[in-house]
Amino acid sequence: MILLFLAFFSLFLQTTLGNNVFPDDFLFGVSTSAYQIEGGWNANGKGESIWDVFSHNNPDKIIDNSTGDVAADSYHQFREDLANLIYLGVHFYRFSISWPRVLPTGFINHVNPDGVKYYSDIIDQLLSNKIEPMVTMYNWDLPAMLQELGGWTNPNIGSYFVDYADFLFSKFSHKVKYWITFNEPGEICETGYGLGLNAPGINMSGIADYLCGKTVLLSHSKVYRLYKSKYNNGKLGISISTPWYEPKNKNVKADVKAAERAMQMEFGWWAHPIFSRHGDYPDIMKDRIKNLSLANNFTGTRLPYFSKDEIKRIRGSADFLGLNHYTTYLVSPNDYNTNLTSHVKDVGVKKEIDPKWPASKARWLKVVPWGLEKLLIWIKNEYNNPCIYITENGYPDDGGLLDMDRVRYLAGYIKSMLKAMQESQVNVKGYAVWSLMDNWEWIDGFTLKFGLYQIDYDDCARIRKPKSSVNFYRDLIHVMEIPAICFEGAPVIPKIEHI
Ligand code: BGC
Repeated sequence: MILLFLAFFSLFLQTTLGNNVFPDDFLFGVSTSAYQIEGGWNANGKGESIWDVFSHNNPDKIIDNSTGDVAADSYHQFREDLANLIYLGVHFYRFSISWPRVLPTGFINHVNPDGVKYYSDIIDQLLSNKIEPMVTMYNWDLPAMLQELGGWTNPNIGSYFVDYADFLFSKFSHKVKYWITFNEPGEICETGYGLGLNAPGINMSGIADYLCGKTVLLSHSKVYRLYKSKYNNGKLGISISTPWYEPKNKNVKADVKAAERAMQMEFGWWAHPIFSRHGDYPDIMKDRIKNLSLANNFTGTRLPYFSKDEIKRIRGSADFLGLNHYTTYLVSPNDYNTNLTSHVKDVGVKKEIDPKWPASKARWLKVVPWGLEKLLIWIKNEYNNPCIYITENGYPDDGGLLDMDRVRYLAGYIKSMLKAMQESQVNVKGYAVWSLMDNWEWIDGFTLKFGLYQIDYDDCARIRKPKSSVNFYRDLIHVMEIPAICFEGAPVIPKIEHI
């Protein structure tokens, strides 16, 4: 009788909850970035980055006036991090290399052997524990000296980036099989050179961000071509972040158009030149920026175009799309009745949230798991089903050990991703949680905690402690299946184990 009941119950679970099993070759990982975790900002020959300069010179621009000088101290404590990665059982670890730690001035003629050794050791230790390194070459920490030359608004910076990439390949490409050129070109250009919120703090929206974008996309494609012609022993991609833009009202045509415009002009700005069939910026982006430029007394468009040859070289310059995704917005048109030039006006949409969506500690992040499925299907249809690695997805809170909201967020988003894979055949090959541990969250300082591991930032020892989400993620990776307990509003039983 009991056996019969169990058989029926398991059938019931399978049919109501679907098949929550991942393919055997699916990869799970965690993500971090150099400036957010390493500390050791001037240790052993490291040069300054624009984030060192920005956080030192503008404490008022960081919410708690903090800096990343020590951060999670991973520069000295990678062994603890390694132990945590092993405990989690991740298949890969996505981390970034700090350009000025390796090349202190940014230029190839001055190598810092200590920096090279630091990353070399990380890579070796990961490999000897069967964890694949996934290396981001640029996670926002430009060598400060290159900013003196205009940073990414100067097209010549690209050749220094290619030198740096070539150097990394020459040292590590026989060991590293997953490379990412840039983390989030949108944030690099829009937030750093347009809105001035991030380093280097340039406030020239609608102009400097577009100049930056052209240099970044060209630099990416040059590095890809170099990798393919000289090394070609792994995969190289780029990580682009985007929310899902949902029309505010699906029955209002203008809202549907506005949401599509936001997808094209925010995400497509970066993805269309690389992943679309014809390459180049999306037409809607070229048209709108040209029209608004002319209407605003410019003599031509503010968007620097690519030559035919450049379009060809950028198109197809990635083996995979790295996707960073956190949240969703409801979108409707908004003309921003102002003469000011800005990318926001160029896009011309209003972004809102549904007050019913569960909140997080970050004002910009609401919990909307279905947005990920819609986004993945949109990408599949728009770019002919590219190979995707979700390189960031995560949830910010106050940093407590019983992080049930994080567990629910991760379970919901991972389930939504799996649904897109199973029901719509979206080609997702891997997924990484942002982040391994609580870290320095850029202008939000230490006020937002994204980690699976807690760090008490009032304690100089920076001791790492596992949160409940460690158990959730570890179990999931172990069985390659989303635990059924995470569905239908079932409470998740917290288990805290200390290593
Ligand atoms: C960035 C991370 C950041 C995370 C959460 C992403 O856009 O790549 O560096 O910590 O968002 O804000």
